[in-house]
Amino acid sequence: MGATSIFLTKQESGEMLNTKQAAMFLGVSTKTIYRMEEKGLIHPIRTPGGQRRFTKSALQQYLNKSHAFTAPQNPSKFLVKENGSTYSLFKETELKQEVPTRQRIDHLEQIVSLGASRNHQQHYDQQVDPKRWVEEWDFRTYQTKTYTHGFHNYPAMFIPQVARKLILAFSEENSLVCDIFCGSGTTLVESCLLNRNSIGIELNPLAVLIARVKTIPIDPKTLTIKLKAILNDYQQIKNIEPPNFANLGFWFSKNVIRDLTRLRQAIWNISEENIRNFFSVSFSEVVRVVSFTRHNEFKLFRSPDKLTDKFKPEVLGEFIKMCENNIIGMKEYVHDVLPHTNSRIIMGDTTKDNGIPHNSVDFIITSPPYGDSRTTVAYGQFSRLSSQWLTRIGLKMY
Ligand SMILES: C[S@@+](CC[C@H](N)C(=O)[O-])C[C@H]1O[C@@H](n2cnc3c(N)ncnc32)[C@H](O)[C@@H]1O
Repeated sequence: MGATSIFLTKQESGEMLNTKQAAMFLGVSTKTIYRMEEKGLIHPIRTPGGQRRFTKSALQQYLNKSHAFTAPQNPSKFLVKENGSTYSLFKETELKQEVPTRQRIDHLEQIVSLGASRNHQQHYDQQVDPKRWVEEWDFRTYQTKTYTHGFHNYPAMFIPQVARKLILAFSEENSLVCDIFCGSGTTLVESCLLNRNSIGIELNPLAVLIARVKTIPIDPKTLTIKLKAILNDYQQIKNIEPPNFANLGFWFSKNVIRDLTRLRQAIWNISEENIRNFFSVSFSEVVRVVSFTRHNEFKLFRSPDKLTDKFKPEVLGEFIKMCENNIIGMKEYVHDVLPHTNSRIIMGDTTKDNGIPHNSVDFIITSPPYGDSRTTVAYGQFSRLSSQWLTRIGLKMY
């Protein structure tokens, strides 16, 4: 399958270009394409594998606008000279919000309306030599953010292929699989995809929310419509009280607090619980990205790099990016999941009786917690900021 045909029919894929093709189309280098993206001048769609795709129409639109550019090799400095005066072609708002939002939602609508979906089998079985299947446990080259697995980071997540291999080796279709420390639900997602029912037990409310969202199929078209509603509401919501939790200003800038508050309210306006939860999970990922916490770190530390004037995160832009990724992942999950499989997630303590009948489970697969916050994996610290923002919804309801 060609790279550009991941989501699209043959005819439609002709309209989608990868980075190299887009560079050729615009007559610039691929490096320039990355710079243009950084500056918000073009807005690729991301495949679940993280690769960029550009529509020809968007590139053409860009070309039309760039008619009067003076320095095509550096789009950040593109100036228009007209009637003796010089001005920047793109207004700040146009660069960062209006144009991207409209174009990106159009792209997303295009993708979800197409029947084709990527075949994820290649990320599971096909690369493994069948003769070495039993001893082969190296999944380094595998894509681990397939389906709904890329919805939200979580400490010490299972590699989906490990869970899948164990489920396939030790359980039958239609049996009941249980993960007694289910975390963000990797085992449960794989069970649903393999026609096994599943139960997960988990103490951390944020993880329970993520696991539920990752296992409940929702029509991606409905999600796209709801995303548009959220964006509309967001524009209307003004002067709203921010949440009141300790150290809010220590972790977030004033502008970020304002924008997160508006966005959270727009999500809360959604009445359907499963859909609200879906967007809450995207919101939760954004909370970490726009906070002052270090990247790639589960514990909470302020990053010195983020405490400078240069760090001006775009809450709405990050949210749209996250939703694009998650709606596309959901599309693929809906495509492949077996509709009658059921996943039940219990928010509770595994060491206690959780009401699961004796001998009802066929197979237990789990990856236990690693130490506590002080010593190793900091599940609590990782979840704290999101949980504080999401307290009213999701986190108390299971
Ligand atoms: C290694 S993580 C599991 C990650 C999971 N495999 C995934 O892919 O996301 C272990 C999980 O155990 C949870 N946990 C710790 N003690 C627990 C308990 N007594 N009962 C239920 N869950 C617990 C932690 O909150 C954490 O989410």
